[in-house]
Amino acid sequence: ASTLGAAAAQTGRYFGTAVAAGKLGDSTYVNILNREFSMVTAENEMKWDATEPNRGQFNYSGGDRILNQAVSNGKRVRGHALLWYQQEPGWAQGLSGSDLRQAMMNHVTQVATHYKGKVYSWDVVNEAFADGGSGGRRDSNLQRTGNDWIEAAFRAARDADPGAKLCYNDYNTDGVNAKSTGIYNMVKDFKSRGVPIDCVGFQSHLSGNPPGDYQANLQRFADLGVEVQITELDIAGSNQAQAYGTVTRACLAVARCAGITTWGIRDTDSWRTGENPLLFDGNGNKKAAYNTVLDAL
Ligand code: XIL
Repeated sequence: ASTLGAAAAQTGRYFGTAVAAGKLGDSTYVNILNREFSMVTAENEMKWDATEPNRGQFNYSGGDRILNQAVSNGKRVRGHALLWYQQEPGWAQGLSGSDLRQAMMNHVTQVATHYKGKVYSWDVVNEAFADGGSGGRRDSNLQRTGNDWIEAAFRAARDADPGAKLCYNDYNTDGVNAKSTGIYNMVKDFKSRGVPIDCVGFQSHLSGNPPGDYQANLQRFADLGVEVQITELDIAGSNQAQAYGTVTRACLAVARCAGITTWGIRDTDSWRTGENPLLFDGNGNKKAAYNTVLDAL
């Protein structure tokens, strides 16, 4: 196959990218998007601050543009993200306790209902675990509403859109470490108690090669019976091409690894300014890393 999407499809997988609505008028960008990718994630447009700028007033304009562009070109969409401690609208940042809990749950229900039947999966909760050695939850206003906020969000999302796969998504989870083990234990607990969870997203914002146990870490989550997805891949560093190949082969070696999404198209589209962590250069040309990914798929 001669494109990322077609090559990934040979093993039943997808290859995706983050898309910014403001770039859908850029013909170089859209040409690469339409040619190469089979899955799309809105880079910012489905987040809480974008979709509910005022309490109870929803704005789906950016998210809908991205979704409609994707669907009209035969692509699927990963919803990102219903609840995250960052990019909360200002009004929610000022809430706490039962008032915040009610606002959180309403947000999940409303947004998941708007996109019902239209998204492949949702990142229901993003980045809720702490970095470092604790293996515990990250402190946030969301967490302070009670430790059950994550399962409550997953149940509300399932009720609103029974067809979407429901994912937990995080970073610094690339190997077996305290943070990934904390998440692993939560997923195991959810599965044992029937809390609806279908997938775990590994953002994979990397600098150089992933840890040596990257594949083994994906596999231990897959062995819990959830799909695993590489959701925001970008890799800085001089061994970038090799590292991209390693990550791609790891996904292909795990039967339940459904696909890979890179966090942008060209280096100039990346949130990691100056790090050139993506598969296409600023002119839209394929980089060495593109070829190692295509060869590995
Ligand atoms: C980033 C976007 O790429 C930026 O445009 C925005 O300013 C901040 O968020 N983890 C995530 C993504 O889950 O939503 C973040 O996206 C990158 C880190």
